[in-house]
Amino acid sequence: MGKKIAVFASGNGSNFQVIAEQFPVEFLFSDHRDAYVLERAQNLDILSYAFELKEFNNKADYETSILELLEQHQIDLIVLAGYMKIVGETLLTSYEGRIINIHPAYLPEFPGAHGIEDAWKAGVSESGVTVHWVDSGVDTGKVIKQVRVPRLADDTIETFEARIHEAEYQLYPEVLRELEVEEK
Ligand code: GAR
Repeated sequence: MGKKIAVFASGNGSNFQVIAEQFPVEFLFSDHRDAYVLERAQNLDILSYAFELKEFNNKADYETSILELLEQHQIDLIVLAGYMKIVGETLLTSYEGRIINIHPAYLPEFPGAHGIEDAWKAGVSESGVTVHWVDSGVDTGKVIKQVRVPRLADDTIETFEARIHEAEYQLYPEVLRELEVEEK
């Protein structure tokens, strides 16, 4: 049996969609009940769960509920794809070494929630995309694979952003294959 993956996403879910079209996804988790990614999951006929941190007393309780889902589905690898929360101690204790994240910059350059915008504003001639293991820091875990993406002379932030996303859609499936996640 191949590795069972769950994808976590907070919003749009374009990376989730690319992954789900190529790999069997056990379930999608979203920390926003109205996220568009939930519609994508429904259209792809993939099981989804959604609940919000604010519905719990604290992050440990919130993550304990997530952990129950992971254990119930015997998930081997958590794939963060635009999950805009810092992974807390509860999840890390059980899953450290089994959580990966994609970041839209060439780490350690431009960590945080606005990797594309920050690189654009800094006027770099190139940025990139990184897939890394998740640890307790913000975008600090060990890099698995990264790719450079140039900023072209006639780029607008929109065309630059689109090129970064295209690189993400290539890189994340490549990494999943390297981690021996079976394809559909
Ligand atoms: C992606 O660009 C992902 O790299 C980024 O959020 C976007 C989600 O897009 N993640 C981070 O910035 C994490 N620090 P999507 O919902 O369309 O996949």
